[in-house]
Amino acid sequence: MKVDENLIKKYSKTGPRYTSYPPATFFDENFSNIDFEKKIIQSNDENPQNISVYIHIPFCPQICHFCGCTTESGFTKPFLERYVDAVIKEITYVSKLINKNRKLTQIHWGGGTPNAISYKYIERITNKLYEVFDFSQNYEMAIECNPAHLEFRHIELLKKFGFNRISVGIQDFRNDVLNAINRKPSKLPIDDIIKKIKDEGFTGTNIDLVYGLPLQTVDSFKKTVEKAIDLNTERIVTFSYAHVPSVLPRQKILEKIGFPSSKEKALMYENSYEMFIKSGYVSIGMDHFSKPGDEFEIALKNKQLHRNFQGYCTRETTGQVYAFGASSISQLDSAYSQNIKNAAKYIAEIEKNNLAVFRGYSVIKEQKIVRDAINSIMCNYYLDINEIADKYFCSKEKVIEIIDFDPKRFEDFIFDGLLKIEKNKLTVFEKGRLFTRNIAMRFDPLIKQKVGTYSNTI
Ligand SMILES: C[S@@+](CC[C@H](N)C(=O)[O-])C[C@H]1O[C@@H](n2cnc3c(N)ncnc32)[C@H](O)[C@@H]1O
Ligand code: SF4
Repeated sequence: MKVDENLIKKYSKTGPRYTSYPPATFFDENFSNIDFEKKIIQSNDENPQNISVYIHIPFCPQICHFCGCTTESGFTKPFLERYVDAVIKEITYVSKLINKNRKLTQIHWGGGTPNAISYKYIERITNKLYEVFDFSQNYEMAIECNPAHLEFRHIELLKKFGFNRISVGIQDFRNDVLNAINRKPSKLPIDDIIKKIKDEGFTGTNIDLVYGLPLQTVDSFKKTVEKAIDLNTERIVTFSYAHVPSVLPRQKILEKIGFPSSKEKALMYENSYEMFIKSGYVSIGMDHFSKPGDEFEIALKNKQLHRNFQGYCTRETTGQVYAFGASSISQLDSAYSQNIKNAAKYIAEIEKNNLAVFRGYSVIKEQKIVRDAINSIMCNYYLDINEIADKYFCSKEKVIEIIDFDPKRFEDFIFDGLLKIEKNKLTVFEKGRLFTRNIAMRFDPLIKQKVGTYSNTI
């Protein structure tokens, strides 16, 4: 896929990543613990019936300067213990509000670096989950791991605790790039880690790469992609580095070293896309690649891929997401609820009130329709007005009105060969995939309000 520089210039602007709709910048601090509790009870009668759980561990032994995640360093053992106790208290309280007949199908551990805390804590939390939720037979339990803290015995323990998927954060294989972002390299040779993960029977193994970091060149990133392909994992993600120093002051320090230009960044995207496709990977959503036969690829084929704060997921296995831990975001059908971001304040609030809501949002029916439209574009590269109308039991005219689906508003994209509109269907071409955030923004009535700071769309 050739990336057209003029198109990048034309469409490069800031915009939401649409991991939720409305985006988190719209969440309201008046949304309280009581509101969340009501929404959890309401969620029992909403779809889907199966449930997902997200566990956030906001601690890293060392903070990478590029990082956009909510995480802290310098924690002590007693503090970590209080944090784990708080997460367990929160799980116990919330699980009592959820109908017992709802199956738990997907569990995701993110951070921070969940694999850098003592494994006895991971075991305590997983044991609590087994105690209070009814795991479906083919549940998926995944964990994000930084290879700087990953040893063979850890992989064995994760298997023993019931994990079946591991995502390894690599970012780049070059030590000078890792040094520049204040990140330690893998403790063991990465090939041995990936082999051990496979030998232990984990499936859907993923590696994260980031392009646009200081000291990366177009050629060096090609070599990183070559090495990633050699590792032969089922999934690979290539994130475009999101630089938002006004929100994340830690990123400011990287400006002293400098970044690849937007032209170089586009070439990195283009080269990696071509290399992954040539070696048999299928492109999923904006930045994910998976092997044919992987659950992601099957979901894309069936137009059933969707997206949440944890990344892409398949409708088959994911449900409403109940999130635990500081800063974590629950994503129910009719609401979002985010916990207090600071770990010490989160612990204090849980110790007092069982819940620790910082802000949230009640989603109305019209916004669910916009959310579905955006999700369909971002994940499955198409939008069918009739399908959405059927799902929400309303007329297609109503859907067209809500998302302002007027072909005239897409003339620039059509002119540039990025998409086509036939009857009530919009299809994004391969050339348009880099611009899905821009296309999705046209359906978003809230975009005019310009609430919050976003990263560049490309
Ligand atoms: C919680 S981290 C992964 C787990 C672990 N802490 C690690 O670093 O390996 C989630 C992923 O988000 C991506 N990420 C973090 N900050 C980013 C940024 N500013 N722009 C783009 N991707 C970013 C990285 O690829 C990272 O692996
Ligand atoms: S990239 Fe991972 S290890 Fe680095 S600071 Fe972010 S969460 Fe921590």
